[in-house]
Amino acid sequence: MSSEPGVTAPWWTSAVVYQVYPRSFQDSNGDGVGDLRGILRRVGYLAELGVDVVWLSPVYRSPQDDNGYDVSDYQDIDPLFGTLEDLDLLMAALHERGIKVIMDLVVNHTSSEHPWFTESRSSKLSPKRDWYWWRPARDGMEPGTPGAEPTNWGSLFSGPAWEYDEATGEYYLHLFGRGQPDLNWENPAVRQAIYAMMRWWLDRGVDGFRMDVINLISKDVRADGSLADGPVISGLYGDLAQGTINGPRVHEFLREMNREVFAGSRDAVLLVGETPGATVEDGLLFSDRRRGELDMVFTFEYVSLDRGLDKFDRKPLDLRELKATLGRWQAGLAKAGWNALYWENHDQPRIVSRFGDDGAYRVESATMLATVLHLHRGTPYVYQGEELGMTNAHFTAFDSYRDIESQRHVAQARELGQLSDDQILASLAAFSRDNARTPMQWDDSPDAGFTTGTPWITVNPNYTSINADAQLGDPGSVFHYYRRLIALRHTDPVVRFGEFTMLLPEHPHIYAFTRSLGETRLLVLGNFSGDEQKAGIGRRLDGETEVVIHNYPDPPLVAAGNVTLRPWEALVLRQLD
Ligand code: NOJ
Repeated sequence: MSSEPGVTAPWWTSAVVYQVYPRSFQDSNGDGVGDLRGILRRVGYLAELGVDVVWLSPVYRSPQDDNGYDVSDYQDIDPLFGTLEDLDLLMAALHERGIKVIMDLVVNHTSSEHPWFTESRSSKLSPKRDWYWWRPARDGMEPGTPGAEPTNWGSLFSGPAWEYDEATGEYYLHLFGRGQPDLNWENPAVRQAIYAMMRWWLDRGVDGFRMDVINLISKDVRADGSLADGPVISGLYGDLAQGTINGPRVHEFLREMNREVFAGSRDAVLLVGETPGATVEDGLLFSDRRRGELDMVFTFEYVSLDRGLDKFDRKPLDLRELKATLGRWQAGLAKAGWNALYWENHDQPRIVSRFGDDGAYRVESATMLATVLHLHRGTPYVYQGEELGMTNAHFTAFDSYRDIESQRHVAQARELGQLSDDQILASLAAFSRDNARTPMQWDDSPDAGFTTGTPWITVNPNYTSINADAQLGDPGSVFHYYRRLIALRHTDPVVRFGEFTMLLPEHPHIYAFTRSLGETRLLVLGNFSGDEQKAGIGRRLDGETEVVIHNYPDPPLVAAGNVTLRPWEALVLRQLD
């Protein structure tokens, strides 16, 4: 990646992406579920925020077992969300405002209701049998009995990763829910079918793809077709990571995809991969442009730091670890490759409830977190409602949760019997994906202006005070702060390209770094605590400075190489001489 501003830099190095989770964004027909015509109504809002790209979570036809991440027809829209014509209208309206559109591409697996799978399942002789991972029971075991699964892998949604299918006496692999069978990318016909579908979407006008769990598509399969058991780290099942994450052919498949799908149009599109388990070395391989794979990837490393044995096990965040992890990614992708920067998405809790303070210092902590993230080098992603400082759902009852992963976690935790119901509820309150999926809070009318019907999931009752309508009219709001950060990325070459240097790596509460380009230097400071914090910043910023952005109304307390940061204060200074 060129580190100098110039003609060669790809367009997305100055872009900010906004993720819409259509189910929870805006309902237009009163059925309680957000839809494409609803999003169309809010295009003006997105333009006002100033984002460059909208990433749409899946709107394809789907039984909705996993809210659309289980696709039964890649080339049609689920009636819940509207029609292909509605999507065309939405794309045209966004394009008219200069906003690009990327689609979620879910091709590690399909829905079990996809015709490919129905056909595959119908007989061992089906020409599509090999499109999925069918395997017999473990040697010497009775098919369908406990422990007879072909490997010991636990699914990422709890329970075994294999489902027994009585009709043909074999098992199929599903890394996620049993309604999400994994496609067999070893089969060239599968790959060609996916590439053809992607070309169809490009022809329809989409500007790229967010690729769901794309580093799971290559399984580590032995020459005899078998897959290996994984170590049992916790719980009842073996870990599937070794056999499925960053598998032996993943880079080959992505390069083939580039050749087959994007010939001639590659520079215009944005490809961002979701890559759980990817290290910074993997991130470099995926995002080094010279390799012709992806433009950037979402790492999970820093959003795992406050998780213990499993993803529902909460432990306190150590800010030093956060700095070390993000700093490693900044350094690792400094010369080649590119970072995708995010705090939230539809799978993560709300950041203000997670690393901030969603009570007394909600506005300060939301804006501090935004400052720190957006000043890193990379492409920032904003998840709907993050720009309002929306909080976790704070549900207190099991039946408030809708998410398949949360429900299966509850079932498995109860089966294991190590946690009380209160402890399970506490883990959901911290990490359930539904925290990010409560409806967008537009105004203080019933159900936050999201729907005139009954919302598919309860609206957070704090919508009467936290909503877009109130924030649009308040220059000191989280919304307007995000708007300013987004504008800064568009206009300031240091924010876009500046070299990143971490400061104060051992400070337990202050996040500090510089960005430098040529003679210009920015100093970024964020207080990750509700107490005043002092630190020496040495001669990092000598001479005259100007405040670039600051989340407190009164002047910052910086003097003679020392800084005092008030609770959750964030500050960006530019050296003037
Ligand atoms: C990652 C998606 O972001 C998540 O929502 C989904 O459940 C899994 N992949 C399976 O598609």
